[in-house]
Amino acid sequence: MTTRRPMIAGNWKMYKTCPEAEETAGALVQKISDAAGVDIMIAPPATALTTVSRILRDTPVDLGAQNLFWEDEGAYTGEVSGPMLVSAGCRYVIIGHSERRQYFGETDETVNRKITAALAAGLIPVICVGETESERDADKTFSILDKQMENGLKRLTADAFKPALIAYEPVWAIGTGRTATPEQAQEVHARLRSFLEKRFGAETAEATRILYGGSVKPENISELMALPDIDGALVGGASLKPDTFSEIIHYKSAS
Ligand code: 13P
Repeated sequence: MTTRRPMIAGNWKMYKTCPEAEETAGALVQKISDAAGVDIMIAPPATALTTVSRILRDTPVDLGAQNLFWEDEGAYTGEVSGPMLVSAGCRYVIIGHSERRQYFGETDETVNRKITAALAAGLIPVICVGETESERDADKTFSILDKQMENGLKRLTADAFKPALIAYEPVWAIGTGRTATPEQAQEVHARLRSFLEKRFGAETAEATRILYGGSVKPENISELMALPDIDGALVGGASLKPDTFSEIIHYKSAS
């Protein structure tokens, strides 16, 4: 029997100015004040972190960042470090999102350095993995995910890894309105958990939360959350509107 606490996380990507972020976060905390038994996180763009952090104080919603650099400080123009994110009020950081891999040259190696840096700074990494459509069509889903996990988690001990979450986001399901079927998602989540078991042992594998991401919406969240190895969701587009995101957070009552 699983005791993993569900988590619903919102990735705002490159949306919302500071005033827009403030308004959205403010409306969200009103709507979810009765939500119980679920961890909630939102990851606004870096410019809005401190603004949103003030709004989230003393609420059940945690703050996350969408990226970090692996050095603590230095001459790295444009980058933001783990300790800086902590000082801005972040508890979580999303690492290795497919958009960062696709547009900003992130590799399993940089993902690995970022995970290590996040953990050292006391941040909880949400580690993203996922296959593209052509990789799935070529029957390479498992081998691609194994490689992303193997290389992304290199040199980490079970103890160091423990706070981390995994997010399975099939690239073909992101922003497309196409969600993985429950069978497709469950199959991959089970595979990821068995990878974690081989790598870190049964206890860590059982305790690690694996989120699903890719066109999650109020209409499909209950079905996804009913699956044994899906412990939550990483929501993009549908997290931008407080009403919709709140509906997703309240998925149980909707089921
Ligand atoms: P969508 O929910 O917009 O498909 O985005 C998913 C995602 O990339 C979350 O990180």
